[in-house]
Amino acid sequence: MTRIRLGPLDPPRGTIRVPGDKSIGHRALLLNAIAEGAAVVGGLPEGRDLAATLGALRSLGVSITELPGDRVRIEGGARWRAGEPIGCGNSGTTARLLLGILAPRATEPVTLVGDGSLSRRPMRRVVRPLRAMGARIDAAAEPGTGVPDRLPLTVSGSALAGRSHRLPVASAQVKSALLLAGLAARGATSVEEPTASRDHTERMLERMGASVRREGRRTGIEPGPLTALDVEVPGDLSSAAPFLAHAAACDGFRLGIREVGLNPTRTGFLEVLGEMGARVEIEVEGDDPEPRGTIRVEGRGLRGVRLGPEIVPRVIDELPLVAVLATRAEGETVVTGAAELRVKESDRIEAVVRGLRALGAVIDPLEDGFVVHGPTRLRGAALDAASDHRIGMALAVAAAFAEGESELEGAEWVDVSFPGFFERLAGAGVPT
Ligand code: S3P
Repeated sequence: MTRIRLGPLDPPRGTIRVPGDKSIGHRALLLNAIAEGAAVVGGLPEGRDLAATLGALRSLGVSITELPGDRVRIEGGARWRAGEPIGCGNSGTTARLLLGILAPRATEPVTLVGDGSLSRRPMRRVVRPLRAMGARIDAAAEPGTGVPDRLPLTVSGSALAGRSHRLPVASAQVKSALLLAGLAARGATSVEEPTASRDHTERMLERMGASVRREGRRTGIEPGPLTALDVEVPGDLSSAAPFLAHAAACDGFRLGIREVGLNPTRTGFLEVLGEMGARVEIEVEGDDPEPRGTIRVEGRGLRGVRLGPEIVPRVIDELPLVAVLATRAEGETVVTGAAELRVKESDRIEAVVRGLRALGAVIDPLEDGFVVHGPTRLRGAALDAASDHRIGMALAVAAAFAEGESELEGAEWVDVSFPGFFERLAGAGVPT
């Protein structure tokens, strides 16, 4: 475990760039791996999650070569078999999307394994609907209940039949797994969600020639081949969010983020910043295959907000930062409809409540969210990233607002999505 010291920090200034979008990066690799032809993918983020997808695909026989300028060339047409268990590390997207890819395609049984955190995360949500299509998947039993819901999972390829699914919770990972399985099934597949989740998979599938039908919260797909697609991954809004939060909470500070993804299914945090009182400007500069552009934020006095289930999927990974901002905001902030936070890389409700209380915040957990009474003066404290990159980054921003020094245990977890994050937080504003 790496423990680092964090002190009060000025917010960033100027215009910065952030690493490539993790969600889009995973998909650019996974979808091209099942496509016909070869593609070049640029702008992939460094970090352990993307490395897990690259490693898993290579172990499954996908040819991926490094090109100059942080690009890779990926060729479709793997045999989809592996002699050894495939490590998915900490990455839920890798494990769940691979399940959907392997269920109709594996030519030998393939076992997926993960780290301690991923091995505790629910997999039944994807295993069950895949089994209903005819998938053959053996799962480890959940401790206590004995329900087979956990990694390791062993998938033996089988013929699948398309089906209509209705998901109990909005999940882009589950939706994507089912659409990728549906591509190689007999007959059409559709997925309906209670609230729309991020649509990176659908956008990329459409650009790769798949027959995708989108009607509100329902997405349908017909079986068929994909054509390889070159992808330039935009910056990750979730990696920009800690810097935006830092600037938004400080009167008069201005920050720009350029070449960042602006997919409307991901930009809930920008709406929240605006509702809390920050000035936010968005300039869309491109749309291929994903909207991208520049965000400018100016800090103003913040006020509390109420967020419910409608917006939650569009801000899910930024909710720990909303809790941090709420400690700087006038009045009460209430977040509900976010029970999913409890089954992320950590129980994010518990982890953020523990960390912010240690700093002196007034925050109470709810079963499906939290309530914060602001503003409160934060004081440096001993903090724990809870083996979770997003908690590590959110608490580092909180520590930057606090008086005195904090210590963060488990700082290395930020490497899952953003190696070099702490250096950037300390020196952010350096134009790149
Ligand atoms: C992701 C979807 C979301 C998100 C996760 C990345 C994706 O999870 O929280 O960080 O890349 O599809 P769910 O699918 O569980 O909602």
